[in-house]
Amino acid sequence: MSAFVINGGRRLNGSLRVQGSKNSVLPILAATLLVKGKSVIHNCPMLSDTHCTVKILRTLGCKVIRNGNTITVDSTDASGYEIPEDLMREMRSSVVFLGAVLGRVGKAEISTPGGCEIGLRPIDLHLYAIKKLGVEIDDSHGRLSCTVPDKLVGTKITFSFPSVGATENAILTAVTADGVTTIVNAAREPEITDLCNFLNSCGAKIKGAGESVITIEGVKTLTGCEYTVICDRIAAATFLVAGAVTGGDVELNNTVPIHLNSVLPLLEEAGCDIRVRCKSIRLKAPRKLNRIDKLVTQPFPGFPTDAQAPFTTLATIAKGTTVIVENIFESRLKHIPELVRMGAKIRTESRVAVIDGVDRLYGAEVFSPDLRGGASLVVAGLCAVGTTTVRNIAFIDRGYEDFENNLCSLNADIYRKV
Ligand code: EPZ
Repeated sequence: MSAFVINGGRRLNGSLRVQGSKNSVLPILAATLLVKGKSVIHNCPMLSDTHCTVKILRTLGCKVIRNGNTITVDSTDASGYEIPEDLMREMRSSVVFLGAVLGRVGKAEISTPGGCEIGLRPIDLHLYAIKKLGVEIDDSHGRLSCTVPDKLVGTKITFSFPSVGATENAILTAVTADGVTTIVNAAREPEITDLCNFLNSCGAKIKGAGESVITIEGVKTLTGCEYTVICDRIAAATFLVAGAVTGGDVELNNTVPIHLNSVLPLLEEAGCDIRVRCKSIRLKAPRKLNRIDKLVTQPFPGFPTDAQAPFTTLATIAKGTTVIVENIFESRLKHIPELVRMGAKIRTESRVAVIDGVDRLYGAEVFSPDLRGGASLVVAGLCAVGTTTVRNIAFIDRGYEDFENNLCSLNADIYRKV
């Protein structure tokens, strides 16, 4: 099992072009299934999750060509409707193919994606939405067998929680349905807007993306287009925190600063100087970070749950006590015992962590519990005294493109030990 080995104590400095968004490219690639023709998607990050998505598209009959960060999908002859169990298990977010397959073929056979490291992650809201649109579901034996006995018909869908994935599946199922669909209490994440912008570029008629109410007027056909995926706001937040904890001076390019409107103020509260230009963010860190009084994760535009783990690392070496509340996932504090092994002082109770800042962390052998938890351990290694070995880095490879080389380009001392 490969690992990252980090020699801590070096200040990060320099500039970095941030990767395309993992959580945008996955639903957009699924959406290419709805296009009877060729779509060209630029700024796709090279990640294991993207590779898995390409495998699923090919299984469904699409011709897919990858050329660096550009993926071309020709779904002219796609007719598949079954996603194999191994691919469903390899990537939990494969559930987002449900809406696209139903919209394209009118039936779908997938296994329930199951939970993952951060929680149960049920899909009841996904199933509620597609049932409202006319889908019949047989969910016995751990498989979901979905059929459209008549046709997909637009309707009103009201979510009890603004689920990102369920909103995406509702959009993908409704975009070629008969009539108008209104989604109430829709997720507002930038990745939803990115998906809708792609679909509208293909001829869809979607209004209100990024707001709580999205209206979709079903269209008969979608035609392929060229599209560039937005910057990964969570990767950007992670690199900013890496600069902050090492007393560094980093500039990130190709970003969308407004997507970090709930993140940048907390870095300023910690004492960082933040300069924003149209597509770049520059962070200059203080010698010693101030504590962040309270960090509470919320659906967008609130503080993103995916940035919680890296910010936990920041809090471990700040002056004073930080309280972190994880409201989105029930099991997303698993990186904390690993940080404690590195000398952090953290108490937890259910979804709440109380972090008393210490002078420094110390290098240790630690294990990634999940994607963002793993990234938080790498960030901890960057600022720790001595050498840190982070294992189970396959989790990290799911979401961070060329993580070690990008950090090295910012003066970090990190290498991948195979
Ligand atoms: C997406 O996951 C992201 N993944 C997650 O990023 C992100 O943390 C999450 O949205 C929240 O922003 C992708 O986009 C691939 P949700 P998703 O449905 O869609 C509950 C990362 O690190 N829920 O908004 O699964 C659920 O259990 C990943 O990049 C139901 O109860 O998130 C959770 O508690 C991790 N029933 C909450 O809602 C449902 O049917 C938020 O889940 C669906 C969700």
